[in-house]
This record gives sequence, structure tokens and C-alpha cells, in this order.
Amino acid sequence: MPLQIIVGAQWGDEGKGRIVDWFAAKADYVARYNGGDNAGHSVTVGKQLFKLHLIPSGIIHPHAVAVLGNGMVVNPKSLLDEMYSLDQAGVRVNPERLRVSHAAHLITIAHQALDKAMESARGKGNIGTTGRGIGPAYTDKARRSGLRLGDMFEHNFLERIGLHIDEANQQLSMLGAPYVNPMQVMDEYRTYAEIIRPYIVDISSELDAALRAGKRVLAEGAQGTLLDIDHGTYPFVTSSNTTAPGTLTGLGLGITAARDATVSGVCKAFQTRVGSGPFPTEVTGDLALRLRGTGENPWDEYGTTTGRARRVGWLDGVLLRYAVRVNGLTELVITKLDILSGISTLRLCTAYFAEGQRYEDIPFGPTDLEKYQPVYQEMPGWKEDVSKIRKWADLPKNARAYLDAISKLAGVPVRLVSVGPEREQIVVVS
Ligand code: GDP
Ligand code: IMO
Ligand code: MG
Repeated sequence: MPLQIIVGAQWGDEGKGRIVDWFAAKADYVARYNGGDNAGHSVTVGKQLFKLHLIPSGIIHPHAVAVLGNGMVVNPKSLLDEMYSLDQAGVRVNPERLRVSHAAHLITIAHQALDKAMESARGKGNIGTTGRGIGPAYTDKARRSGLRLGDMFEHNFLERIGLHIDEANQQLSMLGAPYVNPMQVMDEYRTYAEIIRPYIVDISSELDAALRAGKRVLAEGAQGTLLDIDHGTYPFVTSSNTTAPGTLTGLGLGITAARDATVSGVCKAFQTRVGSGPFPTEVTGDLALRLRGTGENPWDEYGTTTGRARRVGWLDGVLLRYAVRVNGLTELVITKLDILSGISTLRLCTAYFAEGQRYEDIPFGPTDLEKYQPVYQEMPGWKEDVSKIRKWADLPKNARAYLDAISKLAGVPVRLVSVGPEREQIVVVS
């Protein structure tokens, strides 16, 4: 299995970073194919907590080569900040270990300013973006006026970035937002270009050659299935293809590269979402506090990128089955099982109900979710602390029954169960 794709099966923050770190122990390359520094992937190794936004989580393993694919949007300032903080934490980042696609698109401070100004113009109907400039950068890409990383080394780059800032300033002025200073941006980008130059490669040909040579490539999805621009809860989505097929376009691989791929869907043992949009199984009150945590623990449900409290709810089996379909998941990885210890009765959403009808599957995808009422299967919980368990047979009987029910609902096996944020807190099921 030379290509393995790790993808979020829900609305992001499923624990992908921590799971990529687990699989990266045996990978040659770890590659991000979508999104930008809207992502926040946490990896805990002993006392060290790494929060990665742009650089793949595999970088923490010294043998793995990290790749930023053409499907990404890259803010060079964030990239340099992240390289610096990894270096401070003792992780070596150099052109031997990090490759960046010439065809990834640039995010500038003008994109960030536009993201924020558009969100405030949306008022109550806002998307709740991360404010990182993701939407405006992908908009420029789609309207064919974007700047790519490879463009930084062209003779007319500063002129082009000046034009980009002028255009953005026109939009900003219509939105009543302050101007961005083009001279400052040109100066900064001149410096970024020089630092980033040695990292730029043609990642499509490099990964193709690696796969042909039998090397193991791990694709690290950012965000989650339900935030996919095509298959998510549109318009409350991000601006890229987060789902597994995005791996191919986002890394310049052909479809045959995925022929025997393992596609692992990372799914929390419950459901969370940060930002606006429908959430049929959302809960509030004491139970929400119980699932979210108070913020005392680093794993409590507060955004890794923005620090916002995440909305929480019961696991949604209808949306999980949908995620299995649109990603072609071959297996599931369940995270945060430990959080459910001590809850006396668990609920699992097995179907939806609307206008007198039961739905096992949602017609037309997850666009119009407000009208559906979740249908729950109740299951007894368990009291035991599972965080030290490493074997399937040692998990409480009710926990195994809960995991079996998830696997049955999804129609794919559970391969790993995470029982804590630490590297070793994993139960290998098969
Ligand atoms: P990602 O965006 O999918 O990589 O997920 P985040 O890192 O944003 O959020 C997941 C959070 O849960 C992080 O704080 C992880 O350290 C933590 N985490 C991951 N798996 C587990 C687990 O099994 N148990 C607990 N308690 N925390 C976990
Ligand atoms: P990781 O990779 C959770 C959400 C935002 C907002 C919507 C659009 O850590 O799982 P954007 O800034 O992308 O235009 O925001 O998407 N969002 C995420 N939610 N995890 C993420 O990444 C997210 N990246 C974006 O909250 O609702
Ligand atoms: Mg995250």
C-alpha cells in the first residue's frame, strides 16, 4: 500500500495530526494537498505539544520528507514562522526535509484583510472563517489572477503583487475596510522569496517517482469531509476539496496512484464543529460542557488555530456514511474515545426524520440539514478510564459495542482507536 490518504470524516479537528504522526513512523513522504494555515493539527510527543498549520504533521519524524502540494494556499509569513518554531522545538527543517510546490498559491495580507472584511459584511450570516485569507486566495486562483509560489522568482513578480494589492484595495474600500500598503507587501515578499527559493520543487514528479520506487506516501488532509467546497455543508464550508480525491489534484498525481490506496477516515467518537452552519446532532447545556471540556486540558474542544469554542454533539452516523461514500474510505480511525468514559447513556444518530419520512441517507448531500431531526440509538456507556488501554480485548464491553455499532453504521472496519492525545495512546484493532 504505497499511498495512504488520511482524511477528516467530520467537520475538521478529528485528530488527523495525531493520527498522521502515528502512521508517519512508517512513511517516506507526508504531503498536505489542500487548504492552508486555516488548519491546526496537534501532535503530542511526551511533554512537547506541536501545533502545525501548514507543514505536514509527519515532519516530527526525522526520517520523513514533508511536502506542501499545489492544491494548497500558502502564506509565506506563516510558513516561515512555523519553520522557526519547529526549529526552536528541536525539529530540523531544511530543503532536504521540506518540499514546497511551485504551483501552490500565495496568500497575502490583502487576502487576509478581504477575508475579515467579507465576514463582517456578511453580518449574522457569516461563515465563521478562520480569517486566514483562504477564501479570497482560492477565489483569485479560480478567476485566474492568483499568484503562485513559483511566480516569486519571475522578473515581474513585484509588479504583479503590486497590481494584486491595488485590486484588493478597491474591494476593501467598497467594504469600508482599511487599505493595505503595497510597498510594505512588496518589500516583505522580496525577502520571503529569497528564503523560500531552495524549498521549491516540482512535487508532482517527485511524488510520482517516489511511488514508482515503492516508497510510502502519506497524504494528510486538512479540514474535514463536511467542509469540502463541493461535498460539504455549502456554503458553510472552506474553499478547497478536503475529501480524499483532492489528494490527486492537490499533489499532481494521476488516478492510478490511488488504485490500491488505503483511505483512512479519522472520526471523533462524538461530533464537533467550529464556525457557523447546520449541525443536526448538536447538544447544549451540561452535556455540551462535558463533551467540550472547560479548556483546562490541551485536548479540550477549543480551536487549535483560532481558540474558538467548538460546538459539540452526538456522533452522526448518517453524515459518517456519507463521508465513507464521497471519500471512498476503506477504514475508520476513531479518536477521543476516552472523553466518553463516565457518560451513562450514549446516543448514536442512525437516521434522520423529516416531513413524516425516515432517511438513512440524505438526498442531495448535506446542504439542507436544518429540516432533519436525528433518530438516535441509545447505548449504555462505560465508567472505566480507557486512556491506558492498548488492546481491543481490554476495552470495556460497552465501549467495544459502541465502536462495533459505528463500524456497522459506516460499513467499514475500525482500524485504530485513539484513547488519548499521546503518541502511544492507541489501540490497534486490526
Ligand atoms: P486535527 O485538526 O484533526 O489534527 O485535530 P486538532 O489537533 O485540531 O484537534 C484534536 C485535539 O484532540 C488535539 O488537541 C489533540 O491533541 C486531541 N486528541 C487527539 N486524539 C485524542 C484522543 O484520543 N483523546 C484525547 N483526549 N485527545 C485527543
Ligand atoms: P483542521 O485541518 C475545523 C472552518 C472554519 C469555517 C469554515 C471556513 O484543523 O481540521 P476558512 O478559514 O477555511 O475559510 O473557514 O471552515 N475550518 C475548520 N474547522 N478544522 C479546520 O481545520 C478548519 N479549517 C477551516 O471554522 O467554519
Ligand atoms: Mg484542527
